[in-house]
Amino acid sequence: MNTTLKQLAINGADPTFTDADINALKENSHWPIITAEDEAAVIQVMRDGTMSEGAITREFEDAYAAYTGAKYAIAVCNGTAGLEAAFYACGVAAGDEVICPSMTYWASCTSVLTLGAAVNFADIDKDSLCIDPADIEHRIGPRTKAIVVVHYAGHPCDMDPIMEIAKRKNVKVIEDVSHAQGSLYKGSIVGSIGDIAVCSMMGGKSFAVGEGGMITTDNEHLFQACISYGHYERTGLVTEPELVPFKGIPMGGKKHRMNQMCSALGLGQLKHYPERIAEIQKALNYFWDLLSDVPGIKAHRPADENSTMGGWYTARGLFRSDELNGLSCEAFCKAVTAEGLSMSTGANFPLHLHNVFQEMDFFNTGKPTMVSFTDRDVRQGEGSLPVSESISNIAFGVPWFKRYDEALIEKAAAVIKRVAENADQIKE
Ligand SMILES: Cc1ncc(COP(=O)(O)O)c(C=O)c1O
Repeated sequence: MNTTLKQLAINGADPTFTDADINALKENSHWPIITAEDEAAVIQVMRDGTMSEGAITREFEDAYAAYTGAKYAIAVCNGTAGLEAAFYACGVAAGDEVICPSMTYWASCTSVLTLGAAVNFADIDKDSLCIDPADIEHRIGPRTKAIVVVHYAGHPCDMDPIMEIAKRKNVKVIEDVSHAQGSLYKGSIVGSIGDIAVCSMMGGKSFAVGEGGMITTDNEHLFQACISYGHYERTGLVTEPELVPFKGIPMGGKKHRMNQMCSALGLGQLKHYPERIAEIQKALNYFWDLLSDVPGIKAHRPADENSTMGGWYTARGLFRSDELNGLSCEAFCKAVTAEGLSMSTGANFPLHLHNVFQEMDFFNTGKPTMVSFTDRDVRQGEGSLPVSESISNIAFGVPWFKRYDEALIEKAAAVIKRVAENADQIKE
């Protein structure tokens, strides 16, 4: 009986993930959860006409600081703005360098260029998809001011060796927690380990308030510098004379205040966040447990039992082509998609290859921005960061379950398992 060629939908069989399953997954993935209390709180801000005021934002900052254990929290209009303030606070200025993983969203480091500094990109680890601690130290030069770590797709970075290097070399560590609010690294909440942390709270994140973000730190100088850079109305809080030369005008010329509709929503989201991400973790851990012995497929989650994936933002899977006779991740994803479960390869674009970090001349100096104020050229070409550059063949998106629906999770896992176990039927 020659049924093998018909076993996968890509070869003409009926898709196994039905329209009903697709609708169930859409409903399951819907986010954020908005309660009547959230709606009322946002409407109240509008009715009170206090959108640009500060009392609710201060309340949100205090609550978020308590959640992360930080001494200071500063709400900002988006994560990009918060990161720029953090770079400034860490002393990043013209001619300096910052180390950042190439595999991240551009905002993790692009404002380093705005400050006149350059980004020295590091490669990522193929299992965590986070910065590879072994690719950091040799990049530190005389003007390296900071290392950005990104807890990628919810996965905590390996902070112990990173902090050891940073302390020994006297460089600051900025944690970009945009993907990982609530993730734990060996029992500590991410964002509480480095010198300063920033997260995005834009509408698509696991902690979503709209366009917004949060800076957290225990360091008073970093706190004051962030206020000084982008919070003109709070410059009264700044006591370090060199940070307030002009009271009432921010040194960065930026206005980073969060609007209070977002702060009100943030307070409501925070109240339920721990229990909601616990359910996401239960769902995705179950999904990956079901796939634990499947060839070619590996969970993107920490092995350490005291480390977690937070809200498992933009859930990824790891693809191991060598276990499937060299099948490409793209062909695999096409076969899964043909079954009705939409799946795509990769993650972000490796930033070191982007023209913004190669040729762009932002300051109009006649030289690329990366070398506008330095003789040390840290630009890197193709082939320099092999793991980041192979992202579309080592990682793929998996359903980002928000609710623990056993039957649906089992169905999705069964589709992936079926395709992997019949991978020899897939043609490139
Ligand atoms: C890793 C990372 N860093 C920074 C940002 C920037 O945050 P925002 O969009 O709130 O400006 C984002 C996403 O948006 C992100 O994914």
